[in-house]
Amino acid sequence: MAERKTANPKVIVALDFPSADEALSLARNLDPTQCRVKVGKELFTRAGPALVEQLQQLNFELFLDLKYHDIPNTTAQACRAAAELGVWMVNVHALGGRRMMEAAREAIDKTQQPPLLIAVTILTSLEGPELAEIGLSGEPVDNVVRLARLAADSGMDGVVCSPKEVAALRETIEGDFHLVTPGVRPAGAAVGDQKRITTPEDAIRLGSSYLVIGRPITQAKDPLVALADINASINLC
Ligand code: C5P
Repeated sequence: MAERKTANPKVIVALDFPSADEALSLARNLDPTQCRVKVGKELFTRAGPALVEQLQQLNFELFLDLKYHDIPNTTAQACRAAAELGVWMVNVHALGGRRMMEAAREAIDKTQQPPLLIAVTILTSLEGPELAEIGLSGEPVDNVVRLARLAADSGMDGVVCSPKEVAALRETIEGDFHLVTPGVRPAGAAVGDQKRITTPEDAIRLGSSYLVIGRPITQAKDPLVALADINASINLC
């Protein structure tokens, strides 16, 4: 393993590409001491564990963003398989419930190198009326806080959330609970389809632990420079 210059890079680059070749060619232009990478459902479904291994061979720590949501045994075994792939972070849906999350915790704790186990609370794509339609009353943030508490009680290491929810979560949940936030845009970057965005500096100041950033880095003329600029801005916080 190459020696890491930045012990704990806060930026997780979302490798939202349709093929392993594209993901690897971007990754080879990045520095694993300066960021981590995220592989989600599309890329994993196309390229599978082989790509995860190739990215890890390039010394990247990897967030496997597959959002498991199933009966406790199935979710636990999926998390165990992810841990055995050597990933750094894996996630489940808090809506799978306490027993599912506890089973996932127990399964990965038996592995040699347990990844961080993170829960998704409420998908940020869901708005008020859609939440009501699936039986979740109240404001989205109230649901997020309730499910984040349940996630913490069930042994999760943190949650994925919007930067706008970070303050409420930091007020509610004490201790070393990781808040992983997408929806981050450097000042002046294209917003794309993100709606409620925060700059990297503001996200860190609010209390985000890790920033998931895709297109502002992956679509940049020079991804390494874009990443360096973001890291420089958050290092000042
Ligand atoms: O390109 P961009 O920075 O918008 O990418 C953000 C990444 O974070 C994507 O992989 C997206 O799927 C993910 N994500 C998100 N919003 C959420 C959860 C995940 O943008 N609420």
